[in-house]
Amino acid sequence: AQELADVSTRMRSAYAMGAIDLDGASVARADLEVMMGTERDPDRLEEIWTKWREVPVSMKDDYSRMVEIANAGAQELGYADMGAMWRSRYDMDPDEFAAFTDRLWNEVKPLYDPLMCHVRAELNEAYGDEAVPLDQPIPAHLLGNMWAQQWGNIYDLVAPPTADPGYDLTELLVDADYDAMRMVETGEAFFSSLGFDPLPESFWERSLFTKPADREVVCHASALSMDGADDIRIKMCTSVNADDFETVHHELGHNYYQRAYKEQSPIYWDGANGGFHEAIGDMIALSITPEYLQQIGLLDRVPDASSDLGLLMKRALDKVAFLTFGLMVDRCRWQVFDGTLTPETYNEGWWNLRREYQGVRPPTERTADHFDPGGKYHIPNNVSYTRYFIAGILQFQFHKAACDLAGWDGPLHRCSIYGNEDVGERFNAMLEMGASQPWPEALEAFTGSSEMNGSAVVEYFAPLVEWLEEQNEGRNCGM
Ligand code: ASP
Ligand code: SER
Ligand code: ZN
Repeated sequence: AQELADVSTRMRSAYAMGAIDLDGASVARADLEVMMGTERDPDRLEEIWTKWREVPVSMKDDYSRMVEIANAGAQELGYADMGAMWRSRYDMDPDEFAAFTDRLWNEVKPLYDPLMCHVRAELNEAYGDEAVPLDQPIPAHLLGNMWAQQWGNIYDLVAPPTADPGYDLTELLVDADYDAMRMVETGEAFFSSLGFDPLPESFWERSLFTKPADREVVCHASALSMDGADDIRIKMCTSVNADDFETVHHELGHNYYQRAYKEQSPIYWDGANGGFHEAIGDMIALSITPEYLQQIGLLDRVPDASSDLGLLMKRALDKVAFLTFGLMVDRCRWQVFDGTLTPETYNEGWWNLRREYQGVRPPTERTADHFDPGGKYHIPNNVSYTRYFIAGILQFQFHKAACDLAGWDGPLHRCSIYGNEDVGERFNAMLEMGASQPWPEALEAFTGSSEMNGSAVVEYFAPLVEWLEEQNEGRNCGM
């Protein structure tokens, strides 16, 4: 236990601490993440991308030791290895869960393939044949995100030319002088509009909303329940932009879930499964539509239906692109924990899966000494990740169920449940169950169906996929 604590703490602080030098100026890691979304100069992006990944090189030995100790612990508890233990938390056999995620992936892959092909072609237009060859995976530093996990920040480079929604959420927030506090208050107001009680005073006193100037902190956003009762908090180094506006809702979703299930016995103080916990706030954020932004005074004019493709493209860049990353992170770690990958092949295995699932490649040469997975928070912190893939599917199922309940009959991406207390009540019925029932029952309590599947995601993006396929006609979509 002591050694595990030692190696884990060392990795965690290595990940969180230490600014990076750019042109002689030291830039905080949280700011580098933001820059990956705003910078457009490919050389500068490559520099940030590469320097970020110099830090985790030193983590590899600690990581492999952590794997040994974690596996020993999992085996003592009766699991084949740590990966099997993670897969066992979904009310089914670990192997069955692996097959279940394959099935979900096959349902949504037909959305990803045409998106990736189109994005590559547009990036080729923007950066040229040499930087983005049309028969190879996309270089990971050009997708608007440190890990190429969500691509919404390159919307302007790949947007449908005649379907501009006419606004950019980051600009709206900045122009309206939003700060971190106001973003969190806006998130709270959404939950209140569904009938949830306001956050307690202690939330406002004890949370961390911005990066402190006087010390280093773990900036990766998280939500905490300190006492299983009302002491709920978030911790994030909020920037005023669309990504963090979504993250605020994401974190608050954890807190409202935690507070909703507090009357359960402590052993049920958890999500129906990890994917549920990650999907609550994300489902709320799917209701951040132009109509909603107008209701809260951020947007003057709601774009008409001619902007639908643009709105869908923006969402797809974040949500469809993410599914592949959400899946591959643990596909890699399952192989690490079961011994298929060894410290010598960690990095190679990581990039093979990045290529296979995401169609993404590193911009600079990688060697076996690099430890690129360590550049993603959840690896040094050993947080399982398939939960985000599940959430990526589930949030659309929740959204569709909520919109059906609200009697919405327009396109799903235009539906906002803001202000609907009936939906709030049914939502809460699921939340307050916590982990007291197998997840299909929790799903049924809210959606009326106990089956998890990709049909809502497919329905949501269908018009965009049709458009993407037209664009891709005559293009080579292979690698
Ligand atoms: N805790 C979130 C994720 O890791 C934070 C984020 O979106 O940055 O689940
Ligand atoms: N919050 C998770 C992450 O940062 C999923 O979006 O990776
Ligand atoms: Zn989360």
